[in-house]
Amino acid sequence: MTEAFEIFLATAPGLEPLLFEEVRTKGFRRPKAVPGGVTIEGGWPEVWRANLWVRGAGRVLARIDSFRAVHLAQLDAKARRVDWAGVLRADVPFRVEASCAGSRIYHSGAAAQRIETAIRETLGAKQAEDGVLVMVRLENDQCTISVDTSGEPLHKRGYKQALNPAPLRETMAALFLRQCGYEGTEPVVDPMCGAGTFVIEAAEIAARLNPGRSRTFAFEHLASFDAEAWAAMRAVRSQRVPAARCYGRDRDAGAIAMSRANAERAGVAEITDFAQAPISELTPPEGPPGLVIVNPPYGSRMGEGTDLAPLYAAFGQAMLRRFAGWRVGMVTSEPKLAQATRLPFLPNTAPVPHGGLRVALYRTLPLA
Ligand SMILES: C[S@@+](CC[C@H](N)C(=O)[O-])C[C@H]1O[C@@H](n2cnc3c(N)ncnc32)[C@H](O)[C@@H]1O
Repeated sequence: MTEAFEIFLATAPGLEPLLFEEVRTKGFRRPKAVPGGVTIEGGWPEVWRANLWVRGAGRVLARIDSFRAVHLAQLDAKARRVDWAGVLRADVPFRVEASCAGSRIYHSGAAAQRIETAIRETLGAKQAEDGVLVMVRLENDQCTISVDTSGEPLHKRGYKQALNPAPLRETMAALFLRQCGYEGTEPVVDPMCGAGTFVIEAAEIAARLNPGRSRTFAFEHLASFDAEAWAAMRAVRSQRVPAARCYGRDRDAGAIAMSRANAERAGVAEITDFAQAPISELTPPEGPPGLVIVNPPYGSRMGEGTDLAPLYAAFGQAMLRRFAGWRVGMVTSEPKLAQATRLPFLPNTAPVPHGGLRVALYRTLPLA
């Protein structure tokens, strides 16, 4: 497999247009927003680059083959003709996940089993629960075979060891920053920063650090992997000295300690500033205004049973009284809590699934 093929970058439903924008501005070929993600065209170097560069994708799949199959014997025969040796390695274990929709083959377990047998018997690779993931999708009798080239989901950037109880996924944080118009040139304040996700993502964007710079990927274990070319791609640094700093505040001392440790590991300690402070004492940093972005406690994950409206009201008041000229972006699952801030939010964007809830981003223009 050396020619160009389809590469699928997955995201949460609702975030496809934002991911599309990111993929387009980063120069990938023929980006197209589709349900659940964005497709591009390319070869293995584009697969590596997508994993290394793209902040908003949850994982990157290489679509290695597609064919029609209307019954299991046909699936079995055609699966044996797939160029497995061009993609997988005989000495690297694999696993298969299958799904079926609107197809004559409707039993996903049986479909997965045909593919597993084909790989085992034509390539000689073994199966394992933590093996490279081969994904089989049967839709309208068309069988598409993809390989997960990311491994651990891409929101795991590799620096966050310290976790608070309700962290936002880094991929989602990056897309919400983008939706707030953040391009890495203005100060950012997260007044309830938890483990520091928004602040660290913003600082990395400001410093032009690649999101995948300090982790490993499943594609390193594929037949197509070229260690030398990959090392050369990773070594290209476009780092810049940021024009502004990124600030995190939280009333909880443990959260601040976590954020500092995470920023240190991410290599952005110098350009971030974390301090313990309750929302009632929040003041803007000196210098020009920028973006306040926050994910206050909400829903059933934190603060269940407690009335969170006063906290949202206090946040809104701090913004309206002391943050003239700043834009606000707030992520919450509760429209009523958003209203409690009394902030002049723009028309709401569609909610996005996150951790069993649906969260939405509420944005303002620069405050008067
Ligand atoms: C949902 S968590 C934020 C998670 C964060 N976005 C992350 O990814 O780690 C909400 C945070 O708000 C903080 N918090 C709650 N009440 C606060 C207050 N009055 N002032 C400042 N921080 C507060 C909590 O300590 C908690 O860390």
